Amino acid sequence: MCGITACVADDDVVDTVLTGLENLEYRGYDSAGIATLNGAGVRVHKREGGIDELVAEVDGVDLHGEFGVGHTRWSTHGAPTDENAHPHTDCTASVAVVHNGIIENYAELRGELSAAGHLFTSETDTEVIPHLIEDELAAGNPPEAAFRAAIDRLEGSYAIAALVDGTEAIFATRQGSPLVLGVDDGRRFLASDVPSFIEFTSRVVYLHDGDVVRLTPGDHTITDADGDPVSRPVDTVDWGSEDAERGGYDHYMLKEINEQPEALERTINGRITDDGRVALEEFPEGAFDGVSEVHFLSCGTSHHASMYAQQLLRDRGVPAYAFTAGEYATTPAPVSEDTLVVAVTQSGETADTLASLRSANARGARTLAVTNVVGSTAAREADEALFIRAGPEIGVAATKTFSSQVATLTLVIERLVADVTGAPSEDSEAVLSALQELPDLVDRVIRQSTASSLANRYAGSDGHFFIGRGVAYPVAREGALKLKEISYEHAEGFSAGELKHGPLALVTADTPVVAVFSGKHDRKTLNNVEEVRSRGAPVIGVAPESADNVAAAVDEFLAVPETHPDVAGILANVQLQLVSYYEANALNRSIDKPRNLAKSVTVE
Ligand code: F6R
Repeated sequence: MCGITACVADDDVVDTVLTGLENLEYRGYDSAGIATLNGAGVRVHKREGGIDELVAEVDGVDLHGEFGVGHTRWSTHGAPTDENAHPHTDCTASVAVVHNGIIENYAELRGELSAAGHLFTSETDTEVIPHLIEDELAAGNPPEAAFRAAIDRLEGSYAIAALVDGTEAIFATRQGSPLVLGVDDGRRFLASDVPSFIEFTSRVVYLHDGDVVRLTPGDHTITDADGDPVSRPVDTVDWGSEDAERGGYDHYMLKEINEQPEALERTINGRITDDGRVALEEFPEGAFDGVSEVHFLSCGTSHHASMYAQQLLRDRGVPAYAFTAGEYATTPAPVSEDTLVVAVTQSGETADTLASLRSANARGARTLAVTNVVGSTAAREADEALFIRAGPEIGVAATKTFSSQVATLTLVIERLVADVTGAPSEDSEAVLSALQELPDLVDRVIRQSTASSLANRYAGSDGHFFIGRGVAYPVAREGALKLKEISYEHAEGFSAGELKHGPLALVTADTPVVAVFSGKHDRKTLNNVEEVRSRGAPVIGVAPESADNVAAAVDEFLAVPETHPDVAGILANVQLQLVSYYEANALNRSIDKPRNLAKSVTVE
């Protein structure tokens, strides 16, 4: 959600900044802009629309500069117009700022600055920042001190990078929004996310809230809010630019669906012993002793993975509750020190999830982040972190990370149940063995799926309903979310029994119902299938291949290989990902950049 990028080098950085923006476009695509500095003033180009439009606009323009910042926007304050695009400048056009986040006290600051004679040209909250820096410079402060004094006035969440005319440096800071530093011999990079600069360097420094960075060609300094130096390690990311590229696929989403077998291999690698026990380095035997209940905090797809985990824990006799993070942040459930609170977040930067995690931290619960992103805020702020190792996910629609989240949570659950009940769950061995087979089974689903053949028949229907029970219920919800976000078709997911309590009124011959079966509770769901079929709705059944009763009861049958029912939901979900993908493709939708959405929602 908004991407910022920056580069300093001892030669021109324009192409590098534009590449960095292209690599970050999944974070927002309403407008884009670039500013450079080369000793002859600050030059800014920005415009409504995607990065390709900006690239076309600056083609042939002499933007040359050794210091550059760029921004790709997902609008919060102000419409997606040229004026509201970043970078924003001050009255003298000598300060240029890019920002990701929300300045909560911007109205007050803007009032104060306007009264003092500053002229604003946009509706954004960001524009107060260059004007604040301008005032500090005018008061005689050197550029870094002016930058610090300006950010001292800000309330809210932000990652900011600024250019100041006449200064051979870029200044940046973060507070509640992501910002990563890239280190290369003669260059330094900054970005909201590593894929922005991964093709230039894999050496990264994960910045902390309050860090102030000064970038110069081939060097950087990091200081805290008081100006005292802080030391942050340089890490090397274990994936490369090819992982963040589309590879021969039409869309990142399809690539990432296809990557699930290898992502799952990485997720479980080394985490199950040869004799079928959980071996989580971070959580040895006894690590969860004393846990009395588990709260999951998460949003969107991660919430559906959490609902899945909630079901598995309840089936094993452990009280578990999956909360949407936005609700928990404002109306939290009571916790004790025996409550394990698990923040499930692909990005580790989702504002709602972080707010709810902070609430749990503040109230003394034990917290764990289950995330894909090493160095993310969730990983740092929770007491403990466990990485799902799915690799970078660029498509806005989460796919491979759902599978890896559920697989990781299943491992945690088997460890936790053994610790809190004193013995492995009844099905532990079978579930862990199913997890080990999962990469191969997902591969079979992808290779054998006939989902593409349904697309033309059902795309453009009045609506789609998805139903399921047990773990198939969160999968139904996830199937509906995926379809609506990338196809813009109306879709809703229900627990199968709930349909007859109201939503059935919407079921017609033009509302396909997708019924998800895991091999558990199937008979009851089949009754619900009969209810919708008798109202004329076509039914697509997703079920284990041996489920002849399901195959006989539905209009379309999407089979998944036989496995343990607790794992079957992951396979069914892969079928649903393909259904959504092909329907959206048949409707010619912008699959990787769905309207109004962006990856990693860093505002509440
Ligand atoms: C849906 C999707 C979103 C995210 C949600 C949480 O495809 O991607 O619903 O799942 O915004 O994001 P994370 O997992 O990064 O916290």
